[in-house]
Amino acid sequence: MSHRTARSRTFPSVLAALALAWPLAASAQPTGNPTQGKTVFEANCIVCHGADGKGDGPAAAALSPHPANFTDHKRMSKVPDSLRVKVVTGGGASQGLSPLMPSFGSTLSAQQIRDVVAYIRQAFSH
Ligand code: HEC
Repeated sequence: MSHRTARSRTFPSVLAALALAWPLAASAQPTGNPTQGKTVFEANCIVCHGADGKGDGPAAAALSPHPANFTDHKRMSKVPDSLRVKVVTGGGASQGLSPLMPSFGSTLSAQQIRDVVAYIRQAFSH
């Protein structure tokens, strides 16, 4: 019977360790959700980047440089999502681009920014 006592002492601590590790593993995932990102894009980006991502939204004609065309394959392969997150968070000027690309770091959450960047890649890069 002594082995039973030993097991019942270790088993709860294994469970406790799992319970602690689980939420940590889940929150460490840095990927965006493109479905959520579509809503963010429509509310904040369409006016300049256009519904089809070509950089031809209603406000685009007045802007120089024009807003980025996300359907341009060369651009999509050159600009990694990690850089896009920085541009959207800090604004174009923070990454040496035009200040006409606004910063969304104070209006969108970090998750919303990852979501919209994931949407841009999924919706326009094919
Ligand atoms: C007021 C107009 C405007 C709005 C609104 C706007 N952008 Fe931009 N964006 C620009 C302009 C202009 C550039 C081009 C900057 C340059 O080329 O120097 C740009 C460039 C970018 C780039 C960098 C180029 C690339 O290929 O990655 C990203 C990323 C971007 N925008 C994402 C967004 C997202 C996401 C939103 C909405 C949350 C948004 N923009 C809203 C004007 C805008």
